[in-house]
Amino acid sequence: MAQVPEYIPGLAGIPAARTSICYIDGSAGKLQYRGFPIEVLSERCSYEEVAYLLVFGHLPSASQLEEFRNQLVSERGLKFRIIDLLKTLPESGHPMDALTAAVAAMGMFYKGDHIADPEFRRLSVIRLIAKLPTIVTAWHRIRRGDDPIKPSHELGHAANFLYMLEGEVPTRLAERVFDVALILHAEHSMNASTFTARVTGSTLTDPYAVVASAIGSLAGPLHGGANEQVLTMLERIDDRSPHAVRSWAEDRLARKDKVMGFGHRVYKVKDPRATILQGLATKLFKKFGSTPDYDLAVELEGQMADLVGNKGIYPNVDFYSGIVYQKLGIPMDLFTPIFAISRVAGWLAHLLEQLEGNRIFRPSQIWVGETDRAFVPIEERA
Ligand code: ACO
Repeated sequence: MAQVPEYIPGLAGIPAARTSICYIDGSAGKLQYRGFPIEVLSERCSYEEVAYLLVFGHLPSASQLEEFRNQLVSERGLKFRIIDLLKTLPESGHPMDALTAAVAAMGMFYKGDHIADPEFRRLSVIRLIAKLPTIVTAWHRIRRGDDPIKPSHELGHAANFLYMLEGEVPTRLAERVFDVALILHAEHSMNASTFTARVTGSTLTDPYAVVASAIGSLAGPLHGGANEQVLTMLERIDDRSPHAVRSWAEDRLARKDKVMGFGHRVYKVKDPRATILQGLATKLFKKFGSTPDYDLAVELEGQMADLVGNKGIYPNVDFYSGIVYQKLGIPMDLFTPIFAISRVAGWLAHLLEQLEGNRIFRPSQIWVGETDRAFVPIEERA
C-alpha cells in the first residue's frame, strides 16, 4: 500500500517558493526586505522607495526614484467608468469588497497581450500601486455621498492618500507616521494573501486578477482584518483597571478565544513592526494627546506577556496599527484597505518572482472519503 503523506494543516512550515524578497527570523524578531533591516528602511526611506526595492530588487538611485515617483503620480487618476462602477455598489458594503471589485475591473480596462510582455508587467505594477489609494478614498467618499477628491500631483504617496480622504494636506508628522505604517505593511513573506497572489499568478492570469484575489484573502479577520477587530475588542472592555484587564484576558484565554492583535505564525517574540508602530504612536500621542484605547492596549500587552508570553504569544503589527490610524482620523473599516494599498508592492514582487521559472501550483491531497460507492436511484433513497 502506498505511503500516505503527512497532512500539515495550514501548510505550516512547508516551503512554497524559493525567494529573495523578505527574510524573517521569527525567534529573533528580525524582518528584512531584500536583505535590508525593516528598522533602517522605516527610518530612512519613503514608501515609494521601499516599493521600488521590493518590486525591482535593488534600492533606486535618486534619478530612478524620481522617475518611479513621476510614473506613480501620472497613474493616480481613475477612469470615470471605474468611479461609476464604485457608485453602483451598496454603500453599506465593506470597502475591501469595493476594492476587490474595482481592481478586478481594472483588468478589463487595461488589457495586455500577455503577462510575459515586460511592458505590460511594468505598467501594471505602476498602475496597481498608484491607483489603489485613489480607489479606496474615492469609495469612502462616494459611499457617504461626497464627490471623490482628485489625486494631488505634488504630494507623496502617503500624504496624497490622507489628502484624498478629506481634502486636507496632512501635517509632516501625520504624513511620516502614515508613510512608515505603509512601509511596515508592504511585505511579509509567505502569508495567506501573498501565497494567494503566487498561486493565482502561477496560472499566468493578468496582474489585476492576481491582486484582486490577494485582496480577497487579506480581508479575513485572521489576516488583514485583525486591526479592525483589535479596536472593536478594546472598545468592549469597560473596566480598564489593571485588575479588570487581567481578568478579562484570563477569561478570554480560558474560553480559548483569540485575543486579537496577538500571536503570529512566524514570530515567537514581539513583532518588530509592532515595536516600530508603538514608537510612532508615542510620538503622535505626545503631540496630539493620548487615547484611552492606547493606554488600555499597553496595559493589555503587559498582562498578556505575563499570561502567555512563555507560549510566544506577543503583539503583532495589527495590535498598534489600528490605534495609530484612529489617531490619524481614519475610519475603522478603511484599516484593512490601507493594508492592501501597502501590501500590493509585496504581492507584485512575489508575482514577478513567481513568473521567473514559473510552475503552476498543484498540491496533492489526502483522501478521507469513500470510494466506488453504489449509486442508488432517487426514488429508492431513504
Ligand atoms: N490569543 C490567544 N491565544 C492565542 C492567540 C491569540 N491571539 N494566538 C495564538 N494563540 C494560542 C492558540 O490558542 C494555541 O494555543 P493551544 O496550543 O493551547 O491550542 C496556540 O497559541 C497556537 O495558536 P494557532 O492559532 O495554532 O497559531 P497559528 O500560528 O495557526 O495562528 C494567528 C496565528 C492566526 C495569527 C493567531 O495567532 C491568531 O488568530 N491571532 C489573532 C488574530 C490576529 O491578530 N491576526 C493578525 C495576524 S498578523 C497579520 O495578518 C498581519
